[in-house]
Amino acid sequence: MFHELRLLRPYLSRYWAYFAGGLVLIVGSLALRTVIPVWFGGAIDDLEGMAEAVELPADPQELRDLLLWKVLFIVVAAVVGGVVRMASRVVLLGVSRKAVHDVRNDLFDHLLELAPSFYTRTQTGHLMSRCVNDVQNVQGLLGPVFMYMVETLCLYVFALGWMWKVDPGLTVIALLPFPIFIELARRQALIIHTRSRDSQKKLGELSARVDESLSGQQVIKTMVLEDFDRERFEARATEYRGLNIEISRARARILPMMVGLGSLSTILVLAVGGPRTMRGEMTLGDLIMMMMFLQMMAHPTGTLGFVISSFQRGTAALGRLREIFDIPPALQDPPHVTEPATDEGSLVVRDLTVRFPDPRDEPHLHESAAELEEVGSQERLVLDGVSFEAPAGTTIGIAGPTGSGKTTLLRVLARQQEVEPGRVFLDGEDLAEQRIDRVRRNVGFVPQETFLFSATLADNVALGEPGASRERIEEAVERARLAPDLPQLKDGLETMLGERGVNLSGGQRQRTALARVMLLQPQVLLLDDTLSAVDTHTADEILEELKTWMKGRTTIIVAHRLTTLRGADQILYLEDGRITERGTHEELMELGGRYQALYQRQERREAREGAGDGVGGATA
Ligand SMILES: Nc1ncnc2c1ncn2[C@@H]1O[C@H](COP(=O)(O)OP(=O)(O)O)[C@@H](O)[C@H]1O
Ligand SMILES: [Mg+2]
Repeated sequence: MFHELRLLRPYLSRYWAYFAGGLVLIVGSLALRTVIPVWFGGAIDDLEGMAEAVELPADPQELRDLLLWKVLFIVVAAVVGGVVRMASRVVLLGVSRKAVHDVRNDLFDHLLELAPSFYTRTQTGHLMSRCVNDVQNVQGLLGPVFMYMVETLCLYVFALGWMWKVDPGLTVIALLPFPIFIELARRQALIIHTRSRDSQKKLGELSARVDESLSGQQVIKTMVLEDFDRERFEARATEYRGLNIEISRARARILPMMVGLGSLSTILVLAVGGPRTMRGEMTLGDLIMMMMFLQMMAHPTGTLGFVISSFQRGTAALGRLREIFDIPPALQDPPHVTEPATDEGSLVVRDLTVRFPDPRDEPHLHESAAELEEVGSQERLVLDGVSFEAPAGTTIGIAGPTGSGKTTLLRVLARQQEVEPGRVFLDGEDLAEQRIDRVRRNVGFVPQETFLFSATLADNVALGEPGASRERIEEAVERARLAPDLPQLKDGLETMLGERGVNLSGGQRQRTALARVMLLQPQVLLLDDTLSAVDTHTADEILEELKTWMKGRTTIIVAHRLTTLRGADQILYLEDGRITERGTHEELMELGGRYQALYQRQERREAREGAGDGVGGATA
């Protein structure tokens, strides 16, 4: 449990002065607060002395002055003690926020560095829960938990010290009920925490359900699944409510316990100490001091169980965060980078083999283990001995059924996928030995599916270069044939897209993605079935535009609609990760293999659909 605290070392040492300052303040405030019962007891004894002095010939005036001073001291100690206590809170809770802010940022930075495949193995919900709940628990650990632990410890030391000095025997008797109450409170805390965890999990499930239902509204409506959906939602909502009621009950039991503890201890002290006082074995002031200390200790003792289980929860959260921090970042620059002499964009692929390992053997969160087990996928060979050359300025077309490895091939070339040395060469140098940002700058990848951020269309286009001039954005939008659609959009280029804005049609999304990459003017352009949802006519226009734009640049274009590939210098037909046919369009038609068969099938279908605006081929 304690070894997980290691993770906090850098943050503690960064802010050690604050933590140390907070500690000093806590000790100071407790020294002041625990002196009050002592002086109070003293004042009572003085009063008693005064009462006797009235009968005996003594100087009551002197005693009265003494009493006044004691009362003044008590007031000052109470006020200063309170202020110092508040200051300790400000310092410690403040620094815990600072430290956790750093933890959160480091976690996010680390998540950004992980391999894309990590995210395919991991449910977003699990990651969200770590970023939100676990970080919050760590904050609890660094802030309130640390503070209460130190405060309670100091209180015990000071209070028990004073009590022991007065009467060790009575101190022991007063403490007798403590273990029982600590145990009772600990049990409630345990209930609260396990139920809180369950409830958090339920809330996660509930949000996932809402998310799914809301995103899937179209399907739910089409399939008339509303009742089914409502039942599923209500079942989860009811479980969630049940858990929260249990938590509230356990919480409600803690306060009476603390009151009970204070009272029971006080009664014990009164029962044993009362007669002793009457016999004159201890003063009335000492008795009252004891009772005041017991009242002071009741509350922190009642919450002790809670603090201990928060501590456990915090260290468990640290363990879960460490699990993420321990996953090595992917795709780092190689130790020795080589810089190609040219930037012309020639590509050579030699006997490229890509194997996706069994995801169960890859780093994953422990929550994902069961899910991965269920999926039970094994290591798979996705690309098997692929070789081809794309001299600078040429166009390579790639065709093949879904799952044949087309996307994987492009991802390797775009350096989004780890590649072993000596397989892929960009501008004559090994891709694996080049700086990743150089490759990313020179190779533009338009993925099959685009993600639009909630930003304006212009910002979405300028994603790769946020400072791009208006002219360049307009030019890219023009080139990607997105410009003709602008009048349809409310604010043209300034239309908000994504979650809160207009959702573009499939074809518009694809053209936005294309414009995004064209803006960057990469030397190599990779298109992953980018025009699949664009109507045939526009697609042809874009291809025509690309032909002039890509002069001197290298293009690799994956397409299901084979007419798209007709003009390519070389077409590769992939099947199960192998190139089974290759050549120009004419050569492949001549060959009479799969390519030819597919081409003719598509030709017939387009003729049947009356050529024109149908979406070409299936989308992968
Ligand atoms: N990150 C991954 N982890 C494991 N398997 C993957 C991953 N990405 C793709 N695959 C698998 O590799 C095969 C080829 O996928 P892909 O390259 O997307 O084919 P295509 O683009 O031709 O449809 C598929 O069987 C797919 O399930
Ligand atoms: Mg694909």
